[in-house]
Amino acid sequence: MRSRPIEDADVKRILAIQAACPEIAQWTTWDYNRVARGEMAGWVVEEEGSVAGFIVARKIAHEIEILNFAVSPELRERGIGAILLQAALAWAKTFEATHAILEVRSSNAAALHFYEHHNFQTVGRRSRYYNSPIEDALLLSAKLP
Ligand SMILES: CC(C)(COP(=O)(O)OP(=O)(O)OC[C@H]1O[C@@H](n2cnc3c(N)ncnc32)[C@H](O)[C@@H]1OP(=O)(O)O)[C@@H](O)C(=O)NCCC(=O)NCCS
Repeated sequence: MRSRPIEDADVKRILAIQAACPEIAQWTTWDYNRVARGEMAGWVVEEEGSVAGFIVARKIAHEIEILNFAVSPELRERGIGAILLQAALAWAKTFEATHAILEVRSSNAAALHFYEHHNFQTVGRRSRYYNSPIEDALLLSAKLP
């Protein structure tokens, strides 16, 4: 399995995956069309001809921020998340980013486990950052090689 940049034709399937992931920000078609136009960076991994997961990131000075990221629930724990994260980190390397950062719901144990495995550390907490349900955000950061 390999990653490739997000295209307009992927947006419908990305929205379907997103709808099955209440843990993440619920973006609109407009948001993902911006990614496909290159206003943000984003990649998908396909399995058997269908999008299995996606990641969206942006560059902020010498960092990248992971903005949205999910793998279809039935296709998790097969390494697809790792391939998507590597796509974003390889892009970060092209402009010598020093850190990757992101926010995650404090109750999102699967994501916290995933990020810990990929050398992210908790560097802060935003109290009651999320709505529906109200919850703290943890700020995670990974130093890039
Ligand atoms: C976080 C998320 C994207 C990870 O995606 P994923 O495809 O399951 O990630 P991976 O398969 O690469 O890794 C997950 C675990 O599966 C394991 N795994 C990877 N390949 C495997 C395989 N072939 N067989 C069995 N397990 C495997 C990994 O080792 C990892 O476990 P470990 O950290 O204990 O080693 C996914 O859980 C998700 O979509 N969550 C909901 C949305 C979300 O929370 N997004 C992040 C918000 S910030």
